[in-house]
Amino acid sequence: MKEKIYITRKLPAGIVKKLEGEFNIDMWDQEEEAIPREVLLEKVKDVQGLLCMLTETIDEEVMDAAPGLKVISNMAVGYNNIDVDAATNREIVVTNTPGVLTETTADLTFALMMATARRLVEASDYLRNGKWETWSPMQLTGMDIHGATLGIIGFGRIGQAVAKRAAGFGMNILYYNRSQKPDAERETGARFAELNDVLRESDFISILLPYSEEVHHLISAKELSLMKKTAVLINTARGGIVDEDALYDALKNETIWAAGLDVFEKEPIDPSHPLLTLPNVVTLPHIGSASIATRMKMAELAADNLHNSLVGSGEVKSVNY
Ligand code: DGY
Repeated sequence: MKEKIYITRKLPAGIVKKLEGEFNIDMWDQEEEAIPREVLLEKVKDVQGLLCMLTETIDEEVMDAAPGLKVISNMAVGYNNIDVDAATNREIVVTNTPGVLTETTADLTFALMMATARRLVEASDYLRNGKWETWSPMQLTGMDIHGATLGIIGFGRIGQAVAKRAAGFGMNILYYNRSQKPDAERETGARFAELNDVLRESDFISILLPYSEEVHHLISAKELSLMKKTAVLINTARGGIVDEDALYDALKNETIWAAGLDVFEKEPIDPSHPLLTLPNVVTLPHIGSASIATRMKMAELAADNLHNSLVGSGEVKSVNY
């Protein structure tokens, strides 16, 4: 009998078709709406494989509801939505999609940094709202990127890809990471520094760490107070790394100059959230990896991980085995 797979979001037909030959597939049929929790708990009852998104919390409750579950394949590189320890205790393989989204996420990080530094969204709104009456010397002036110091917190694949872009813009690059990366230092010209030194010395701070409890609110009031008054903070990793209340205070009181945020502690962020009232914040709805080609590659890799893990052959990007 064919093994059963549940897919928690509507995926392109070609990707589903590839799995259909070998498995019995069921899928949440909405593209823009996340699967309700109670439906997920019901749907996983008799499955061996689960292909999920970062919008689903896959915890012990889900695993208890799915006694036959062998593989959880996350269509994301980050997997903080999955209780990996609980999965490992149950001998469930957890997989993610590293590599395929590195360059696209680095592009978006750089784009957000430039948009925030040069106030692109504010400037565009200024024009559209009929406020542009004349050119004037200091109108909508921002921060230079070329020649500035970029501090990258988390120097993995995406951090290094951002550093390569920054080198092309003539930036001075610092990084903080658990371990030093001499090869990447040689390739990008980045220099290792302790976290507080990165915070003190950088004009731009780009957060690119994977989220775990350990780094929850790593950037809080104390860290924000170390930054330059002219600093621009960019978060394209996970919202929970930054204490949003402290960030709001720092931006409101102009302790730092601006922030560009693609991720939030609670997603989607409430449209009435205080951060969204500030002119010096550029916000995006978690679109770091959102190019057509990259999202297709992520879906394909997530499907391959699930397939290969269940059939027991081929490469599997496992995070726990
Ligand atoms: C990830 O993959 O973890 C991103 O946040 C979404 O692409």
